[in-house]
Amino acid sequence: MAGQPPRKILVTSALPYANGSLHLGHLLEQVQTDIWVRFQKSRGHDCTYVCADDAHGTAIMLTAEKLGISAEEQIDRVKQEHERDSAGFLIGFDNFHTTHSEENRQWCERIYGRLRDNGHIATREITQAYDPEKNLFLSDRFIKGSCPRCKTPGQYGDNCEACGATYSPLELIDPVSALSGARPVEKASTHFFFRLPEFQSLLERWLDSDTLQSQVANKLREWLQAGLQEWDISRDAPYFGFEIPGEPGKYFYVWLDAPIGYIASFQNYCERTGHPFEPYWERGHDTELYHFIGKDIVNFHGLFWPAMLDSAGLRAPTSIFVHGFLTVNGTKMSKSRGTFINARTYLDHLDPEYLRYYFAAKLNASVDDIDLNLDDFVQRVNSDVVGKVVNIASRCAGFLRKGFDNTLAPDCAGHEQVQAFIDAGEEIAALYEAREFNKAIREIVALADRANQYIDERKPWVLAKEPGNEKAVHDACSVGINLFRVLMTYLKPVLPAMAEKAETFLNVSLDWTELQGPLVGHRLNKFKPLLTRVDPERVEAMIEASREAAPASAQEASAQEETVQDDTIGFDDFARVDLRVAEIVAAEHVEGADKLLRLTLSLGDGQAQRQVFAGIKAAYAPQDLVGRLTVVVANLAPRKMRFGVSEGMVLAAGPGGEDIFLLQPDPGARPGMQVK
Ligand code: 2FM
Ligand code: ZN
Repeated sequence: MAGQPPRKILVTSALPYANGSLHLGHLLEQVQTDIWVRFQKSRGHDCTYVCADDAHGTAIMLTAEKLGISAEEQIDRVKQEHERDSAGFLIGFDNFHTTHSEENRQWCERIYGRLRDNGHIATREITQAYDPEKNLFLSDRFIKGSCPRCKTPGQYGDNCEACGATYSPLELIDPVSALSGARPVEKASTHFFFRLPEFQSLLERWLDSDTLQSQVANKLREWLQAGLQEWDISRDAPYFGFEIPGEPGKYFYVWLDAPIGYIASFQNYCERTGHPFEPYWERGHDTELYHFIGKDIVNFHGLFWPAMLDSAGLRAPTSIFVHGFLTVNGTKMSKSRGTFINARTYLDHLDPEYLRYYFAAKLNASVDDIDLNLDDFVQRVNSDVVGKVVNIASRCAGFLRKGFDNTLAPDCAGHEQVQAFIDAGEEIAALYEAREFNKAIREIVALADRANQYIDERKPWVLAKEPGNEKAVHDACSVGINLFRVLMTYLKPVLPAMAEKAETFLNVSLDWTELQGPLVGHRLNKFKPLLTRVDPERVEAMIEASREAAPASAQEASAQEETVQDDTIGFDDFARVDLRVAEIVAAEHVEGADKLLRLTLSLGDGQAQRQVFAGIKAAYAPQDLVGRLTVVVANLAPRKMRFGVSEGMVLAAGPGGEDIFLLQPDPGARPGMQVK
């Protein structure tokens, strides 16, 4: 290290959508990035960490609409919440901006202009599904219908969860808009495409350059081999985003402006602080650029982004650091199990450094998923941090205060021991640098064991009882405190708040660059508790609170629904079920069916009558049903049955057969009324 100039490093983590709360999955990434950045800073490098909210797109527009606020207000609220929660986990962003900013607009226009001038933008008309009631184009996720291959109902517009088929939304059988329940129509409009195939050889070189994790490079190679497609970078109004210059009603797709948000946030930081900007984005400088991301968004960062940067004449990232997903207790986070834990819920119950430590103890440079096992979490933190590291200081501090005026011995009798700990720092630093945090932690904990053993062997508590042992006690405890100091320096990127308390106690700053030798004749401050044990009851309370909180708001439900699959439905899903009062205007037996009746339902004046098949033949005679009101799921995708198409489902209670009871509203309800 010595003599080498500091490295100039710019680091980002993925920009969270301004559409919902942060959860522990976000925090896994932010903690990983933050540890790496703090490590670089501790080593004396000029390392800047920027992030922002990802503020554009249809989902955010719809959330704002649902909440009855403007999109700007929605993203402002969420930004405040995100900043507060990240700070709660001691994430030390140098800048947290938003993609809905002037800097970002300018950079989007500039980069797009360069792409266009270089002939890398194509325009053509495409036909897409369009919701004629909401008046907007529907992305695949907003269309549901039956799979064209296996006919399973309720599938999204891009692929079938039952048989794995992929298709375009317009191929679905009986598609409906998830927003309005209307049947989508086909509509043509002009779109702008980024000519990605032109970058095939650039991207091949980038993947072969050995800068990416091998699992990531392999995945990206699969895409290259399958053949790159032109990338649709425009969306039609109404859209919350930046309008494409000179193209009224056309907006940049959120995924175009999101990574540009890295540049914009950094520019905002540089303007605020006077930090140099250009050398980090222009080519040919000795600066480094790293993006920490999750494995679900490698195509954007590993293909589209380097190609865009290249066309725009900007530098490529030095590397992209990809991590896996977070699981809790071995499975996907689940609302019903209470393991879908929001950042805020965690902070309401537990110290952020527990989780930072646990994540560090598990994180490595692979893209494998990381499991938060809550029993192991309690055990690891209590045993390693409190039982081993804090213990070193607390066992020595009392003797130094009582017998030696809180001052370390004037010479360090255990000099070799302290030096051995300092020497171990290079190996630990290499592990941090390589993002092998779990191995770094293992080394540090092994050193903590050695430190405790050192004290155990010298037994200052025994020595102190006999007169004449003062020097031995003073030496043993001074060495203990010196060892603690070295360990806390190594742990500071992971445990910054605890390290700050240790700095106050030790009366030194704990930076890697300061570790030149033992502290001798050095005056300490009063020892105060550094970290208390994890109380398993608080963990239980957090799980309970997560169960109760799920989902706290429609906003959260919509943010979470893409990542969560379990046995509950979010509020959004529930709200999409359109229950209506229906009048049974006709009922008849179905030939060949032994359970079904064919019902003709009226949903009020002006509404087309519907045919619904109901398995209630054993309980009702058709003539008894005519004229009755009941409740129907009105936006169920029509289903082809053996006897015809069923256009909804009536609600009935009971196990079936004769024992089934059709739901009926109280008198006064009229056909077509919404059931809430
Ligand atoms: O996947 C996501 O949550 C995106 N909001 C990440 C964007 S990262 C970058 F490209 F801005
Ligand atoms: Zn299918």
